[in-house]
Amino acid sequence: MKTLPTVEDTVAFGRRLASVLRAGDLVILNGPLGAGKTALTQGIGTGLGVSGEVTSPTFVIARVHRGPLPLVHVDAYRLQGFEIDDLDLDASVEDSVTVVEWGSGKVERLSDSYLEVRIERRDDDTRLVELVGHGGDWDTRVESLR
Ligand SMILES: Nc1ncnc2c1ncn2[C@@H]1O[C@H](COP(=O)(O)OP(=O)(O)O)[C@@H](O)[C@H]1O
Ligand SMILES: [Mg+2]
Repeated sequence: MKTLPTVEDTVAFGRRLASVLRAGDLVILNGPLGAGKTALTQGIGTGLGVSGEVTSPTFVIARVHRGPLPLVHVDAYRLQGFEIDDLDLDASVEDSVTVVEWGSGKVERLSDSYLEVRIERRDDDTRLVELVGHGGDWDTRVESLR
């Protein structure tokens, strides 16, 4: 568990997280509306060196940012009714880092393993972030970030 006092800290945390990411990775961001999922993704985008501003993909569902390691940014909030496979993202998932907001229960099967980032908003408006590795070597990879 780590405390992120300001939005800048959350962005910086995303930037540090990017340094351990590689092609094929799936990162699922969990936390309520306004938790900082998009802010964290902005930091990941900066860390990966991708092009285009990372913004909330709510109305487009998924956006691909080109770069040395492309970033596929998905907002799964509206995905209850249909399958993520319908987005036809599989091709790029192997070559990209895929970050999914609201992805729990919807996109886990895109990868054998994934990193879950839990963001909690506290009463004093600071955030608490927890990294939970599911399979693979995530626990080793994110150890220095915890
Ligand atoms: N410590 C913090 N970390 C992240 N966001 C914060 C923090 N403190 C305040 N905020 C604000 O909370 C909002 C988070 O929005 P956003 O990243 O879009 O959340 P989400 O994608 O989870 O809905 C932003 O307006 C941001 O400025
Ligand atoms: Mg968001």
